[in-house]
Amino acid sequence: MEKEQWVTDGKAAFRSVFDGEPDCISVAPGRVNLIGGHTDYNDGYVLPVAIDRHTVVAGRRRPDRTVVAHSQTLAKTIRFDLSSVEQQRDASWGEYVAGVIDALNTESSLGGMEFVITGDIPLGAGVSSSAALELSVGALVRDLFDLQVDDRTLADRCWKAETEFVGVECGIMDQYAAAFGKADHALFLDCQDQTHDAVRLSDDVRIVVIDTNVKHELAASAYNDRVSECQEGVAEFDALLSHTVTSLRDVSVEEFERHAESIRQPVRDRCEHVISENDRVRMAAEALESGDSERCGTLMFASHESLKELYEVSCPELDLVVRCAHETEGVIGARMTGGGFGGSVVALVRPDTISSFAETLHKVYPAETGIEPDVYTCRTSDGVSVSTSQQ
Ligand code: GLA
Repeated sequence: MEKEQWVTDGKAAFRSVFDGEPDCISVAPGRVNLIGGHTDYNDGYVLPVAIDRHTVVAGRRRPDRTVVAHSQTLAKTIRFDLSSVEQQRDASWGEYVAGVIDALNTESSLGGMEFVITGDIPLGAGVSSSAALELSVGALVRDLFDLQVDDRTLADRCWKAETEFVGVECGIMDQYAAAFGKADHALFLDCQDQTHDAVRLSDDVRIVVIDTNVKHELAASAYNDRVSECQEGVAEFDALLSHTVTSLRDVSVEEFERHAESIRQPVRDRCEHVISENDRVRMAAEALESGDSERCGTLMFASHESLKELYEVSCPELDLVVRCAHETEGVIGARMTGGGFGGSVVALVRPDTISSFAETLHKVYPAETGIEPDVYTCRTSDGVSVSTSQQ
């Protein structure tokens, strides 16, 4: 949907809950990550794309210290006083809202506010509805209270909200993609120094996202287990190598191979995935830069294989979709995106193959799993932006 439409929808959503008009409407995109699975919290590289699925927040200030947030998508309202933000721990969307407000409340004293949240990002599909919610709430608050916070700081505050307030040990990729996404481009993001280059996507491929519509129980605990296994790998390599190792980014493929035998399993496999994946992301960015989408696609398939075999975060449903992709001519690459154990696959597809690929998926996937997949072609999008009601 176009941005103008979102502004109109945001205003309408606001009017359906509150009297009068919102002052600002903010819009933030979801994302898919073309390659770089589980590298962001290891100070590595990722290649996300902001997609044309958005979270919209329309709101205005209040004369008191109360925050009222209504989710149109979930038909739920939360209300809290700014002095008791800390108590908003209900393990749901409200916690993300409270976390962002808490993280921004350090800039200067915020006042009360009321806003409505709407949008079309599928929840739990692995396209980061949470970061889009954080960034859109954050950008709205920044505008309403005229906070002197640049986009990088905003992304960082939203990341802190997720890691420190909500308690998910994620990396910075999702918040960064929602903040800095650029239409027609992927972001080659270095998670160590938090810089990025926009890499143009070629016109000869489309991004197709396939939501498996499964989310296995294991997802949250396995994510945190992988984070600690990688930390163990860092400690091992720091002891083994003559230079300091503060993250797996500091270990080369050659150093890994030299010492692999002495690292216990499954830590060795986890490290091998991360170290080789960083190389794949670099090569994929170079391939896209030079217009070689095929090469990027081949690296995506290799990434999936590594996530499945070495990092062990895939599941039969994700593997089935990637297998279908591999067997369909005109699908040049595919891999799971997001944390894993369900969620979505991202595929690079030739435009004239999209409908036959979708047809195959709608036939094969339900036949094997009993579940209908959601298949959608994504356009790329810019990062978060805010409009005032008058615009
Ligand atoms: C989740 C996290 C991201 C990233 C991916 C795996 O989506 O939110 O930070 O770690 O998993 O690449």
